[in-house]
Amino acid sequence: MMLYIHIPFCDSKCHYCSFNSYVMSNQHKKNYMKSLLVQLKHETAKNNIKRYESIFIGGGTPSVVESNLYEDIFKYLSKFIDKDVEITIEANPTATKKWMKSIYKLGANRISFGVQSFDEKKLIFLGRNHNTNKAIDAIQDAYDVGFRKINCDIIYDTVLDNKILLENDINTIFDLPITHISAYSLTIDKNTNFYKQPKKQKTDIKLTKYIFDKLSKNGFIQYEISNFAKDISNISKHNLGYWQFKPYIAVGAGAVGCINNQRVYMQKDVVKYIQKPILYKDIEVLSEDNIITEKTMLAFRSIVGVDIGIFDDKQLQNIAIASNEGKLKIKNNKIYSVDFLIADELSLYVLGQ
Ligand SMILES: C[S@@+](CC[C@H](N)C(=O)[O-])C[C@H]1O[C@@H](n2cnc3c(N)ncnc32)[C@H](O)[C@@H]1O
Ligand code: SF4
Repeated sequence: MMLYIHIPFCDSKCHYCSFNSYVMSNQHKKNYMKSLLVQLKHETAKNNIKRYESIFIGGGTPSVVESNLYEDIFKYLSKFIDKDVEITIEANPTATKKWMKSIYKLGANRISFGVQSFDEKKLIFLGRNHNTNKAIDAIQDAYDVGFRKINCDIIYDTVLDNKILLENDINTIFDLPITHISAYSLTIDKNTNFYKQPKKQKTDIKLTKYIFDKLSKNGFIQYEISNFAKDISNISKHNLGYWQFKPYIAVGAGAVGCINNQRVYMQKDVVKYIQKPILYKDIEVLSEDNIITEKTMLAFRSIVGVDIGIFDDKQLQNIAIASNEGKLKIKNNKIYSVDFLIADELSLYVLGQ
């Protein structure tokens, strides 16, 4: 079973971000971590979990919570994990070396930094709370304390982007001990500063292809539309699990788990969550059609492929047409997309939606 742990705190809110995260007091953080453990124990027992195969502590910003507040969670989880299990923790470049050292000692073996860009102007534009040098130092510090799996998130498709800026960002990544890149196209959701402002997003397919090509020419494997690993050993098992539609337990405010063909939604409000951490806000039962749609969409955005056996006759006809047009590959009864960038349209076409 995979496990996702949500930390809904940040030091400030970036202009583009609609994630469930808030600037809150240390007392809230302390209480929250206790409730998190309550829910974790509850889910582990209820689902009769013997082993967690991967763990992802995301946010929000896990690095704004003192490392000692993670001790009980790691201690509890130690009974359910084997030695080499991938344990990722997200961090902001403002994380201190001391925090990274403690969290590494506790057992995290993969760290994921929200960098977004190494360009000073773009960082200000995005409302980030760090500058370029801080991001470079944080990545170096993570390596120094022992992390050998280091991810860097970047954002593209902003109005500031051009080839020179992105080339510089990627070259900086190549100079650092980064083993994985998540490159996200900017999306503008409601409840963000950007939503209320003049246009900040600009899609430029040439620049997207430039990023993909440059990473691939330098040996990075694109295993999902936004995810690139330096080599096979750096493909995130947890990420890959999501694309494979593996079940996962999710704990924390606003976390969404998917288990026994049900999507389980937790309370988003942190204070309410602290009070009642085992209460589900909502449960969505996934129909067989929902599951086929989900599996197809996830598979076409990634290298995992989807079993041909799940499709009906009409869908198989669509698959044959798309395959003749060179948009899909069929190998060993599995279907793979050829171009991740058209994954969503292709899924809808195949599914007949
Ligand atoms: C939880 S944050 C990473 C850790 C930490 N909170 C930070 O930002 O430094 C996850 C990532 O999602 C991406 N992200 C968030 N909102 C986004 C948006 N609207 N468009 C594209 N990417 C976004 C960013 O790249 C961000 O680093
Ligand atoms: S991008 Fe990261 S740091 Fe910025 S508000 Fe979102 S979760 Fe917080």
